[in-house]
Amino acid sequence: MSAVCEGKKTFLSRLGFWGLALAAILIPTGLMAHAGAHGVVMDRMAIMITNGEARADIENMLFGDAAYDAERVKNLAGAIAEKAGEEMTKLFPEGTSHDPSLALPVIWDEWGAFEELAQELRRNARNLEVAADQQTMHGDGASQAQGADERNVQQAFEALAETCDSCHLKFREQL
Ligand code: HEC
Repeated sequence: MSAVCEGKKTFLSRLGFWGLALAAILIPTGLMAHAGAHGVVMDRMAIMITNGEARADIENMLFGDAAYDAERVKNLAGAIAEKAGEEMTKLFPEGTSHDPSLALPVIWDEWGAFEELAQELRRNARNLEVAADQQTMHGDGASQAQGADERNVQQAFEALAETCDSCHLKFREQL
């Protein structure tokens, strides 16, 4: 059993039966569920939520109403890359798919494929970071270079978004 679950067990056994019964009465169910997300589960959820916000921000700049800012795209992509690969997979110790986590147990049956997607996320986020950086360097220069930069950024973003989606399709409970 993972360190997380053991941590929880000792905490619960210290509470004792009456402590637990009292907690069940006093703590609303919603709060109990939230309190269940601790340690690595909470850490990885926080990263994923930040990733989700970054993806939505970039999407809004590329295809929505938000003003385009290459520097911002670069920074958001860089932040996704930082938390991908090993930084992400280390937050998925075996057996941590219990409530309230949306992680599916198949992660540990197909660990290699899961790791590969986390690595791919890093590569694709770095590609987007580089593409956006190119744009900041070309600035308002030659429009031909700008057109090519724009296509590169869009393609890199689409590849990145596909990586999020393929991992969720296979390894996350469907929302
Ligand atoms: C290697 C697989 C993998 C990749 C790549 C990945 N995710 Fe996730 N994501 C997961 C898993 C597994 C969960 C469920 C985690 C949990 O609940 O313990 C999740 C959860 C989420 C959630 C829900 C968080 C919550 O608790 O409400 C969001 C939002 C999310 N991911 C966004 C993204 C975005 C955006 C990307 C791409 C930039 C991405 N993820 C890339 C595996 C991945």
